[in-house]
Amino acid sequence: MPFPTLTIADKTIPLPIIQGGMGVGVSLHKLAAAVANEGGIGVIAGALIGFREKDIAKNPIEADSRALAGEIRAAREHSQNAQGLIGVNIMVALCNFAALVRTAVAEKVDVIFSGAGLPLDLPSYLREAAEKAQEEIHTKIAPIVSSARAVSLIAKKWWNEYSKAPDLVVVEGPLAGGHLGFKRAELDSPANRLEIIVPQVVEALKQFEDKCGRAIPVMAGGGIYTGADIRDIMERGASGVQMGTRFVTTWECDASLGFKKAFLEAAEKDQMIIQSPVGMPGRAIRSQFLRDMENGLKKPANCIYHCIKTCDPATTPYCISLALVNAQKGQLDRGFAFAGANVGRVNDILSVEKLVEILLEEYEASARR
Ligand SMILES: Cc1cc2nc3c(=O)[nH]c(=O)nc-3n(C[C@H](O)[C@H](O)[C@H](O)COP(=O)(O)O)c2cc1C
Repeated sequence: MPFPTLTIADKTIPLPIIQGGMGVGVSLHKLAAAVANEGGIGVIAGALIGFREKDIAKNPIEADSRALAGEIRAAREHSQNAQGLIGVNIMVALCNFAALVRTAVAEKVDVIFSGAGLPLDLPSYLREAAEKAQEEIHTKIAPIVSSARAVSLIAKKWWNEYSKAPDLVVVEGPLAGGHLGFKRAELDSPANRLEIIVPQVVEALKQFEDKCGRAIPVMAGGGIYTGADIRDIMERGASGVQMGTRFVTTWECDASLGFKKAFLEAAEKDQMIIQSPVGMPGRAIRSQFLRDMENGLKKPANCIYHCIKTCDPATTPYCISLALVNAQKGQLDRGFAFAGANVGRVNDILSVEKLVEILLEEYEASARR
């Protein structure tokens, strides 16, 4: 039995898997297109997407917007006959959130995912674009949340102000890679386990499903590793999953081989929780750079990217963007890689096609258990 299809408002796709957006430069057009070609949702990460543009320091907003438009177009070109979708991930914490959302809508991207803060005014950009173009906008919008409370707040505001319900919702649990939507002390709380939060979010969305007259699929992420994990979480009410870590060690992943090797070499004990300059905890692979930061060493840098609303260049111990750009290029002594709690299990590099095949085999085998 294949995976169940995923219906998002008026669109149905064959693979209920989102490849989570991974910045900086880890998920760009190559990975996103490969996932869309398999029938899932491939997501381009918006965070500092213009890092390779010559004018990124001088014109960060323009450079990022230009790079985002370029990546969306390239992803489309590489997935012309795809049954899946192309999405972008635009974090609320980004200084150029509004500019990137406007660019993504103008490029007619299929889905915008937005977390790292509450995307309370996301529908206003769709409304603005529809008024300007005098036509309906088909871009879907999806908040990324870590609690039923957060999704209720967002859905209420969207409904009351814009008569809009989320097209789908991603729930991210504490085992995810990257920035985490929990306080550090709450990460190990049994009440915050993904399998506990998912049914709560599904329940919280029921009243909005009634209001808008359609299903609002809930996609679960953070620690989903095998096809059996996909089945388990879907049995608890998720309509599909969002996966990050497993997509890093694919040939199509846009990061350097050095970055992927850091994933292959990491053992379970090599992951750590950092307090990121973004003001949230994050899950990453332990590195000398992070050890130095833990020991109070500072890497003072001029702020060239002006990327995160909550980062104070005067007090931050290091520039997270620079650290992530270095890591993306494979210079892990000058940065670090975010990774999910399952990073110790990754042991080979596969094609996206092969990874999806394995996930399906595992999913099918778990039905016979
Ligand atoms: C290297 C890396 C970078 C990430 N960057 C982002 C990001 O820019 N924005 C975001 O919302 N989530 C980000 N995430 C989270 C992923 O999109 C995804 O939700 C998460 O990794 C799922 O957990 P998993 O890795 O256990 O599958 C990142 C994760 C990783 C591993």
